[in-house]
Amino acid sequence: MIDVLKQEIDQIREAAQADLSQADTSDACEELRIKYLGRNGLVTPLMQKMKEVPNEQKAEAGKLLNGLKQFVESEIEQAGEKLKRGEQDVRLKQEAVDVTLPGRPVPLGRLHPITQTLLELYDIFAEMGFQVYQTREVETDEMNFQMLNLPEDHPARDMHDTFYTKDKGVVLRTHTSPGQIHLMKERCPDPIRAVLPGKCYRFEQTDASHEWMFYQLEGIAIGDNITLADLKGTLNAFIHRTFGKERKVQFRCSYFPFTEPSMEVAMSDKDGGWLEILGSGMMHPIVLRNGGYDPEKVSGFAFGMGVERIAMLKYGIDDIRQFYSNDLRFLSQF
Ligand code: PHE
Repeated sequence: MIDVLKQEIDQIREAAQADLSQADTSDACEELRIKYLGRNGLVTPLMQKMKEVPNEQKAEAGKLLNGLKQFVESEIEQAGEKLKRGEQDVRLKQEAVDVTLPGRPVPLGRLHPITQTLLELYDIFAEMGFQVYQTREVETDEMNFQMLNLPEDHPARDMHDTFYTKDKGVVLRTHTSPGQIHLMKERCPDPIRAVLPGKCYRFEQTDASHEWMFYQLEGIAIGDNITLADLKGTLNAFIHRTFGKERKVQFRCSYFPFTEPSMEVAMSDKDGGWLEILGSGMMHPIVLRNGGYDPEKVSGFAFGMGVERIAMLKYGIDDIRQFYSNDLRFLSQF
């Protein structure tokens, strides 16, 4: 009996060696492990045969069988590990990164020149105590005009080519001034010092100095004793901070229904000419009252400027349409 077993053991050992010499991947080794040592493997039935071995030969047979098991096990394991290491080396080589190669440049985005300009303006006005306050772009006729002392038949409405919506009485704001009313209603009776930035819309033919969408920055100050001198001082400081101390500032009589008196502000250019910058004035008593304030007790000033115009003057840009034509050659200069 033991001789037969011995023979079978030798056969399996040889077969395993032959199989192993063919195995060229760690996966193949794993398959061999299952083929020989798995539950239905070739070695397993030999264990069954132990039962048939007479008792006095059991010890020897057991030793032989264990020897085979250990042999096959360790051979497969060693071969498998060796192959695995080789496979890993190949993979590492394939995945290797040459850190000395120059990197591919990542295109960097940047803030739009109008956003940059606005941020600078916020800083300048923040130093003078102005908060930033944003209000809606879709307004009612009442807010955009009537509350600002522009009743329905007022001739000054002609200056605002308005986008009307399908909803009656709802318009795209033509200026940031309706924000004055929102802010006053929210803050009354507290004093106010704020700038109100945002998009405005006018139904206009576009040209080098007109866009149908543009930004304004509104300014408003309300308090016990706000005077025209405060307005002039504030705007002087703003122009000198934004464009340089050498600029001369001119205040000219003007007209806006929501301010009284009203002034247009211009600054000197390099050739002795004047550049118009913004509109301003002392808040009209009617407007103060519409915001909830008592014009007998408080006063205020307001101003409004086109942000594109400021950016154009600052950077020497001669066509407003450049801001919104999405031309990277233009935008990436800022
Ligand atoms: N809202 C005015 C405009 O769009 C500008 C302005 C604002 C004038 C505040 C005076 C006071 O032209």
